[in-house]
Amino acid sequence: HRHLLGIAPLAAHEILFLLDEAERWVALNRAAAVKHDDSLAGLTQINAFFENSTRTLLSFEIAGKRLGADVVNMAVAQSSVKKGETLIDTAVTLDAMHADMLVIRHQASGAVQLIADKVDCPVLNAGDGQHEHPTQALLDALTIRRRKGRFEGLVVAICGDIMHSRVARSDIIALQKLGAHVRIVGPSTLIPPHIEALGVEVFHDLDKAISGADVVMMLRLQTERMAGGFIPSLREYHALFGLTVEKLKLAADDVLVMHPGPLNRGVEIDSAVADDLKYSAITEQVEMGVAMRMACLDVLTRQRRGVKGWA
Ligand code: CP
Repeated sequence: HRHLLGIAPLAAHEILFLLDEAERWVALNRAAAVKHDDSLAGLTQINAFFENSTRTLLSFEIAGKRLGADVVNMAVAQSSVKKGETLIDTAVTLDAMHADMLVIRHQASGAVQLIADKVDCPVLNAGDGQHEHPTQALLDALTIRRRKGRFEGLVVAICGDIMHSRVARSDIIALQKLGAHVRIVGPSTLIPPHIEALGVEVFHDLDKAISGADVVMMLRLQTERMAGGFIPSLREYHALFGLTVEKLKLAADDVLVMHPGPLNRGVEIDSAVADDLKYSAITEQVEMGVAMRMACLDVLTRQRRGVKGWA
């Protein structure tokens, strides 16, 4: 693969290969002092985020810097995009500066593919509209594997705004390829039509969906993608679909609680659950995000560096 645009094009063994590669970087990231490797020294990484981000942007920046790359963050708000420059012209401009990696987040599904078709260097999708967020699914899979030691037979409940969530889509595809059983749950207005075709079990009752689940993954209501559509009352949503300590008792005794962030505390998840040291893996997901993005940057630039190694 020249680019990382989604989980859909990856085979299970390629996903597992990337997880194994990420394991190499976990120890380096935990080093008490110097956290540096020069694998990507001399390479230029441009992060172009057309949509807000905390975790993905910072972890891609930290990942590139820990591997020795020259990392540049394009300031979209101050760029010529604001003067009407097209996405493709912007991408061609970045390519003409001889970038070696482009990390792109964009509000339009398919925008990252459009850029990948026009440039010479590897493109990594950091989230495109409602389509895919592949590095999030990879870091989620890494977190699950580290805590549970397996995917086969695990019951994973993904809860909330499935309709607008590229995280849900990428996670569903990744976890099913790896052998987990995925349940999804949310109000019918926030479940995409024909989602059963992806092989998931669909629920509209949170209690039933999380009953006996090994992993419960909560999602934020993406109100920024609901303009003109149905926006639920937050109080009612919390009463029906919010994860509380009481509801969590329905899941497996050793349930893992996950959330890609950002959290809306008191809406989809209560603080008592999000901050629970035994069940919650939310900060571990963020930690794994750096290692996972280091692995993706390293693997995708191997051909460029004359190093063999993509699965
Ligand atoms: N999980 C995630 O993509 O978070 P950010 O939007 O903060 O990058």
